[in-house]
Amino acid sequence: MHYLIEPGAIGDADVTVPGDKSVSHRAVMLGSIADGVTEVRGFLAGEDCLSTIAAFRDLGVAIERTGETELVIHGVGLRGLQAPEGDLDLGNSGTAMRLMAGVLAGQDFSATLTGDESLTGRPMQRIITPLCRMGAVIESRGGKPPLRIRGNTALEGIDYTLPMASAQVKSAVLLAGLYARGRTTVTEPAVTRDHTERMLRAMGVAVSSDDGRIGVEGPATLRACPVRVPADLSSAAFVILAALLSDKADIIIRDVGVNPTRTGVLDILRAMGGDIRQENARDMGEEPVADIRVRASKLQGIDVDPALVSLAIDEFPVLFVAAAAAIGETRFTGIGELRVKESDRIAAMAAGLRALGIRVEEFDDGARVLGGRFAGGAVESFGDHRIAMSFAIAGTVATGPVTVRDVAAVETSFPGFEACLGGIGADIRCVSEGPA
Ligand code: S3P
Repeated sequence: MHYLIEPGAIGDADVTVPGDKSVSHRAVMLGSIADGVTEVRGFLAGEDCLSTIAAFRDLGVAIERTGETELVIHGVGLRGLQAPEGDLDLGNSGTAMRLMAGVLAGQDFSATLTGDESLTGRPMQRIITPLCRMGAVIESRGGKPPLRIRGNTALEGIDYTLPMASAQVKSAVLLAGLYARGRTTVTEPAVTRDHTERMLRAMGVAVSSDDGRIGVEGPATLRACPVRVPADLSSAAFVILAALLSDKADIIIRDVGVNPTRTGVLDILRAMGGDIRQENARDMGEEPVADIRVRASKLQGIDVDPALVSLAIDEFPVLFVAAAAAIGETRFTGIGELRVKESDRIAAMAAGLRALGIRVEEFDDGARVLGGRFAGGAVESFGDHRIAMSFAIAGTVATGPVTVRDVAAVETSFPGFEACLGGIGADIRCVSEGPA
């Protein structure tokens, strides 16, 4: 399936986007190993998080879907998971695989984690190294999935310094730390999303955080508590950019998670001249939320501050589109981690932007994008949801129709994307065949 986007008039709108993917995964995982019943509202019913539900059901947890975005999880407690009958297939989801590896490291059974073509090509040594140091035994295919995890009920706490800024690795080690004897600490080289820490605290676990060093004491007990999932800022980012690039739109996106470990995209777009305001700021459970109001703006190219990279890690595809539509040059540096996401996002964005007539220079860990006008054309998504959605936004302001190929992966994180974009005035259609 492809998208066909014709240049269209984005207008004023008041919209919502689906729930946060990171928080939704964690709600299922922590709710499953908590004592008691966890009620979740605002859950993201996208393929990635549904893979996590299926995996925990296979581990013996009763999880009811009581509404499109509502769950009731009957927690089995820290020691209540059961050996699965077959492999646990996590589809496209790196978050599910890395965080679950942390949970499975502390079990009294073995389990195998596998996934689709993209996931089975992604690096897992980053979690294998610390989890094996804690006492788990993990077999892999040269550091890549499938992962055969032989759990160990006598894990030992470790002090681990992350070699890269990664919330997934941090979370995997902390989750294993819940099962370990003694203290587990993780030191991160840059601040990464802290949803695991916040949800653990809400469930009664003492999580220390001191100047980039985060710690838990095991074995820990989690107490179920209600979880409300904010709208995903990473999904809102597509609507934000569509509004910024439009002629005169004024769009409000409701109840968006604005956890400061995630808002790098807003800082970068504001530095480019974007008129983006946070209104009605409040807390939704453990997470800060706001309504985000965006008005059409003229964007200027900038040197993106590398200190913001870990706070905007999933938004670089859409930021490349912003850079391509801005006046002048934008430089991205320190974004080498993008090469090991659902696709090599630096290469994927460079290829697609060039196909639409934009000049891009690619470096190992960055890129230089010269702002211009998108021509019509056809681009590949490389099966990556965020690449597909980013080019759909480029299509709203191109001089001709844009085809984005192979967009099925959008379902992993943003079910209803086309309808949402249509709702703000974009002319976007799903077609089974696009022009060559
Ligand atoms: C995530 C962490 C990030 C991010 C991913 C979600 C999480 O990955 O890219 O989409 O929920 O912890 P890394 O930890 O690999 O940077």
